[in-house]
Parts: sequence; C-alpha cells; structure tokens
Amino acid sequence: MTDGLTALVTGAGGYVGSIAMRQLQESGKYAHVSGTMYRKHVDDADLMDITNRDQVFTVLREKRPDHVFHFAAISNVDYCEKDPDLAHSTNVEGVRNLVDACKEVGAKLVHVSTDYVFDDKSTRPYMEFDTARPLQVYGKTKHESEELVLNAGGIVVRSSGVVGYAGIHDDKFMKFLIKGGPQGMYNNGKKCFTFAPDLVAAMAALAEKGASGVYHVAGPEKLTWYEYASTIRDNIEESVLSRIPEHKQLKLFVKEPQAVNGHQVPRPEKVFLDTSKIRREFPDLKFHTAQEAALIMGEQIARDYDIQLLPV
Ligand SMILES: NC(=O)c1ccc[n+]([C@@H]2O[C@H](COP(=O)([O-])OP(=O)(O)OC[C@H]3O[C@@H](n4cnc5c(N)ncnc54)[C@H](OP(=O)(O)O)[C@@H]3O)[C@@H](O)[C@H]2O)c1
Repeated sequence: MTDGLTALVTGAGGYVGSIAMRQLQESGKYAHVSGTMYRKHVDDADLMDITNRDQVFTVLREKRPDHVFHFAAISNVDYCEKDPDLAHSTNVEGVRNLVDACKEVGAKLVHVSTDYVFDDKSTRPYMEFDTARPLQVYGKTKHESEELVLNAGGIVVRSSGVVGYAGIHDDKFMKFLIKGGPQGMYNNGKKCFTFAPDLVAAMAALAEKGASGVYHVAGPEKLTWYEYASTIRDNIEESVLSRIPEHKQLKLFVKEPQAVNGHQVPRPEKVFLDTSKIRREFPDLKFHTAQEAALIMGEQIARDYDIQLLPV
C-alpha cells in the first residue's frame, strides 16, 4: 500500500496524463494526487513549464510528492521533426530539470518513454537491455531523457501506441469514434497497442515497489493503427455510440503516410516490446487486448453520457 503517500502527475491536461490523473485519484492508493498543466487549463493543477527550471523546482518544493509520474512532453513525432530544438528543450532539458528537482525533494520519478527509441531491425521483440537506435528526432530525445532518469535511479517505462478513454470531448483517439464520418488511419507500422489504464497501473505498481531501471509495458497484440481502430470500432456497441447526439456512423479508411518538410519522417515498420520482465515481476497486472479495451471504453462512454444527461 502507498497509504499516506502523495503523487504528482505532469502533463495532466494531455492525453495519457489526464487518464493517469483520474485513475490515480480514483485508485485510493494515494492520500493526494496533484497535477501540473501547461497551455491547456486543468482544474486544481499547478502551472509548470517543464523547460522552466525555476518553475519546476518551485512546484516540486511546494508539493514534495513521493512519486512523480511524468507525461509532459512533445509527443507528436512529426512536430518533433519540424521543431527539433523545442523537442530537445522539452523532452530532454525538461526531464533534466525534473530529475534534479526530484532528487532535491526525494521523489521517485516514473518517466514514460517509447518504443520509438528502437529501429525495426530486430528479429524478435525488443527487450529492456537491447541497444536503442532511434530513427527520428522524437525517439532520439526520448532516449536521451531515459539516460538522465536512469542515472538518477528513476524508473523508465517504455510503452507503445497508448490508447484509452479520456472523456468525450478531450480524447484525440475516441473523438473519431464518437463524431464518426470518414476517418483515415495508417495501415503501415505494426506495434503492440497499450490500453492506457494498464500503463498507469504498471507505473503505479513500479513506484510502489520502489523499482528502478527500464520496464517495457505494452499490449499483447501486434497491429497497425487501422487494425487497432477497426477492432475498437467493431467492439464498441453502436447502441452506445448512437446515444451521443453528434454521433455519425464511422467509416474507416486507410490513410497514406504524410511528408514533413518534403520527406517522410522515418518510423519503425514493426516495433514490438517484449514485456516478460514486467509480467514476471508483477503477475497481477493485466494487459488488455484491443477487444477487451473496447468493451471497457464502451462502458466508460455510456457512463459519462448518462452523467451528462442527468440534472446535477
Ligand atoms: N500516446 C502514445 O501513444 C504514447 C506512446 C508511448 C509513449 N508516450 C509518451 O507518453 C507521454 C504522454 O503522451 P501523450 O500522448 O499523452 O501526449 P500529449 O497528449 O501530447 O500530452 C503531452 C502533455 O505535455 C504537455 N507539455 C508540452 N510541452 C510542455 C512543457 N514545455 N511544459 C509542461 N508541459 C508540457 C502538454 O501540455 P499542453 O497540452 O498544455 O500543451 C500535454 O499536457 C509522452 O512522454 C509520450 O512520449 C505516448
């Protein structure tokens, strides 16, 4: 139990950060969970630009969290390629600030990284100790940040294609299901999609155990975005979706990869994370398939929609 402990979630307004915030608050494992925000407003969160060292130290000194779950980053692969300086200052120098501030206040840092630290040359799923060979700016910055966290005794959790339900209007993945209409999805590049609550549960378990080092956390299937999205669509009840007023029938089509500054940003064609380490050390953790995740997300959507219908 983490009774009496406190947690801080960076990037609480982001996709995975917002899911983590809610899940950690509802888990009952922490006496208090607070979040940080950047450009997007989040109720009760502290303003913290990760690139602003003073701001990072101010928030950490005030909150003095036991565990810090770090989601703030420039996570858009194409955007990192367009603005590598911003990607570096946020994804590397920002992490340096956080690592130093965590060290000062004695907080355990749990940092999310990515399968994009790897290329696609391995003939087997990548293990934690395999050599990183990132193909693009995003992967390079994330790999640099990993080194900073590991040198300070923190936890690096590499994940892949993280998808979860973050609320009807804020969710960049679910919005396409809810609003429907024609939607393009890439059908190249297979990966092990991860249900966001599984990632958050694993991060919390690692923090609770006081672990350190690298862990791979990913789902059990190897799919493209198109295949994953199709499975989600096929397994969320149309009867649930059709109760949402703005819902239109979804028509998925295969989207072609887009060029950035005249060239394709290199992405690994197939990158699979071997998750035997986390499964061995934490046999109670669950890693949902796309179909299982869809059923849970369908229930979450239905619940949220009912809440919106009821007078407060
Ligand atoms: N999503 C995935 O499939 C996936 C897979 C593997 C790993 N990850 C990792 O998971 C983490 C979260 O990803 P995500 O998909 O949730 O990304 P996201 O939705 O883009 O969220 C990123 C968050 O970072 C914040 N941020 C950006 N610049 C900042 C700065 N200078 N200071 C403080 N906060 C800043 C953003 O704030 P504003 O919104 O206010 O700008 C946002 O809250 C990232 O580290 C990413 O590398 C994601």
